[in-house]
Amino acid sequence: MRPVERSDKMKMVHSDIRGPIYQRALEMERQGIEVLKLNTGNPGNFGFGMPASVRAALLENLDRAVAYCDPGGMPEAREALRAYHAAQGLEDITAEDIFIGNGVSEMAQMVCMSVLSAGDELLMPMPSYSLWSNGAYLAGAKPVFYTCDEKADWYPDVEDMARKITPRTKAILLINPNNPTGQVYAPALVEQVIGLARRHGLLLIADEIYDRLILDDMPFRSVGALAPDMPVVTLNGLSKSHIVCGFRCGWAAVSGPRKLTEQLRQCLMSLSALRLCGNVLTQLVLPAAMADPDSTRAMLVPGGRIYEQRAAALRALDQLDCISYVKTHASFYIFPKIADRVPITDDRRFALDLLEEKHILLVPGSGFDWPTPDHFRLVLLPEPEQIYRAILDIGDFLERYHQ
Ligand SMILES: Cc1ncc(COP(=O)(O)O)c(C=O)c1O
Repeated sequence: MRPVERSDKMKMVHSDIRGPIYQRALEMERQGIEVLKLNTGNPGNFGFGMPASVRAALLENLDRAVAYCDPGGMPEAREALRAYHAAQGLEDITAEDIFIGNGVSEMAQMVCMSVLSAGDELLMPMPSYSLWSNGAYLAGAKPVFYTCDEKADWYPDVEDMARKITPRTKAILLINPNNPTGQVYAPALVEQVIGLARRHGLLLIADEIYDRLILDDMPFRSVGALAPDMPVVTLNGLSKSHIVCGFRCGWAAVSGPRKLTEQLRQCLMSLSALRLCGNVLTQLVLPAAMADPDSTRAMLVPGGRIYEQRAAALRALDQLDCISYVKTHASFYIFPKIADRVPITDDRRFALDLLEEKHILLVPGSGFDWPTPDHFRLVLLPEPEQIYRAILDIGDFLERYHQ
């Protein structure tokens, strides 16, 4: 018998966040070596706990969670999300325009399957969280990367975006606030992207999972709120804002003129039905979670963990001249640049060597489809003192490192 061959669709799929370097870290742990794992944005691994409101709702609803629910989601949960998005300015959506699934990850695959045919192109940011490029590959389509410009606070370069539109372009993806850059885009920039999509008749996909994790009172507007005349699908979820990554709870909200989104909504419904339903327990806690923005906010202000960890990270980065960075204003990631004088030609090798010597696991820039071997993503989730020391350790390593 011949060995089982992978499908063509899988050939380009990659996930460096949980790839070979991560496997090596696990092996080191099995050998008894303690590794500081800064590869995933998984707050539950760093002593963050779920809000009391979520815990109470969970316990209260346990017995209601055993049956399948409607494929698109439970009515109370969909209604809570409708109200959330209406308050953000997506005024015309109904609860049935929201599809709840097992994380934004699942909903992103459904969106890609729904709108991309073989050979179609999805415009997406670079650096890029790999969920979306993989989603495009799995749909047989092609991710086309527009540059986010480090010299312009990592804002998307709208001219680059415009140049890359072809007759095969189906949609523009905006991840705002962004992973891995930690930036929030000003509403004026979002308007420019919407204008481009409008001129070319493109669907807008807005991954806004970090919209509740904005620091420094930076202004944020949801794409759908600024584009009521356009088909928009907005993705969001509880994983990060409510420290429940493991619950797998995300959703897609379809907005814009209904006649323009009929097929998209039908496809999301069919795909939802194919996997029967999303996790019911998490849908039962959704109304309580959405009614509790305060637990999330408390992490983002002085004295809160996310705020103080970022401050400690920036204090450490400021001491290093082998690394430069753009100050972040959202999420808990940063995408620093390694100075040109550090001779690195292979950033995966760098990440592996760092792991072996300093027992720190991070994701090299190439894991975010970044084209040059001079960036990496740091997850700023350890307590302030620990992230501070880890960054100084990375600096110490880089000062002596060459390939
Ligand atoms: C931009 C972005 N979108 C989606 C996800 C996936 O989230 P979920 O846990 O809801 O699948 C992540 C997770 O890190 C992310 O950073």
